[in-house]
Amino acid sequence: MSITVPFVDLRAQARELHDELLEVFESVTSRAAYTLGPEGAAFEAAFAEYCGVRFCAGVSSGTDAVRLALQAAGVGPGDEVVVPVNTFIATAEAVSHCGATPVFVDCLPDTANVDPGRIEAALTARTKAVVPVHLYGQPADMDPILALAARRGLAVVEDACQAHGALYKGRPCGSLGVSAAFSFYPGKNLGALGDGGAVTTSSPEAFQAVTLLRNHGEHPKSVHAAVGYCNRLHNLQAGFLAAKLPYLPAWNEARRRAAARCDELLAGVPGVTPIAVRGDVVPARHLYVVLVDDRDAVREKLQAAGIQSGIHYPTPLHLTPAYASLGYGPGDFPVAEAIAPRLLSLPMFPEISGAQIDYVVEQLAAAVEWTARAVGE
Ligand SMILES: Cc1ncc(COP(=O)(O)O)c(C=O)c1O
Repeated sequence: MSITVPFVDLRAQARELHDELLEVFESVTSRAAYTLGPEGAAFEAAFAEYCGVRFCAGVSSGTDAVRLALQAAGVGPGDEVVVPVNTFIATAEAVSHCGATPVFVDCLPDTANVDPGRIEAALTARTKAVVPVHLYGQPADMDPILALAARRGLAVVEDACQAHGALYKGRPCGSLGVSAAFSFYPGKNLGALGDGGAVTTSSPEAFQAVTLLRNHGEHPKSVHAAVGYCNRLHNLQAGFLAAKLPYLPAWNEARRRAAARCDELLAGVPGVTPIAVRGDVVPARHLYVVLVDDRDAVREKLQAAGIQSGIHYPTPLHLTPAYASLGYGPGDFPVAEAIAPRLLSLPMFPEISGAQIDYVVEQLAAAVEWTARAVGE
């Protein structure tokens, strides 16, 4: 039997919520309320409550959310900001957009998340902030990071772009640092119908700074108190996000069920190591990532069997051409360099069926066995 399995299926959600999304469209367009309207305010209040914080500011993307949160924490030209080397480039770009320099830190071999034990060695007199990333939807180990930051007077800005609804020791991602950045890119656990993002915080000062900067530094009307940006969350997108938010807990549960089925089936498959999940977190399971040898050959086999996969991320940031000027080289981050060629992201979305998961695991096992034999011959 041959089944096709997409990496994500965004059409399923759009079908499920068709009428509600259409209602939002009709309501917003009937009032032509496109920027900073009531939908925006309502979504911000609901998302702040969901994350267990006092404030949420809707912004234009996750990348802008990281940058605005850092700027609100006072990061600017000449500063250094600690960033995991195994993350999406946007985490580091946001630092660069502040005029600051990203300083990379290696990851843990089992979770692929930032190694808290290596952060202190990366600090200098110029370090202003640390940006832990809740990678693949799994919270970074925040307690040692928060303790170090408190000792050294650093701001901790969470990159929660992959972790809507994840919990660290019972506390929601988005509420752990001075502020946090979320992305509502369509493929995220909570996705808009286009780009969007948010900064969550319980700090009135951070909230004020972000709301000022996202809208041309304007406060009050027609007075520009700061040189800001056009970084608003579209009101239409906020309406869509508010309509989707009540479904997020069930979608995350469905992701965790799918991941548990993968874990169970893969336990009997030699040569496939799922990325570990800590016992003290509830992950959002944004991505389901495994480590395999001969990853590219395995991926081709999966593709031929109708299964899409991804790589998060193929090149550790210190080796990416965009950051060549920082002067890092091969060997600087051995853990990230060792796992990068072995990382493979399997299909993961709330609507994935049991039959699709069984097929992915069966084909993955066959592909790994085939490539191991081909290498041995
Ligand atoms: C870890 C991480 N940080 C930042 C971003 C940037 O978000 P956006 O694409 O909304 O700018 C993403 C999204 O791809 C991400 O996965």
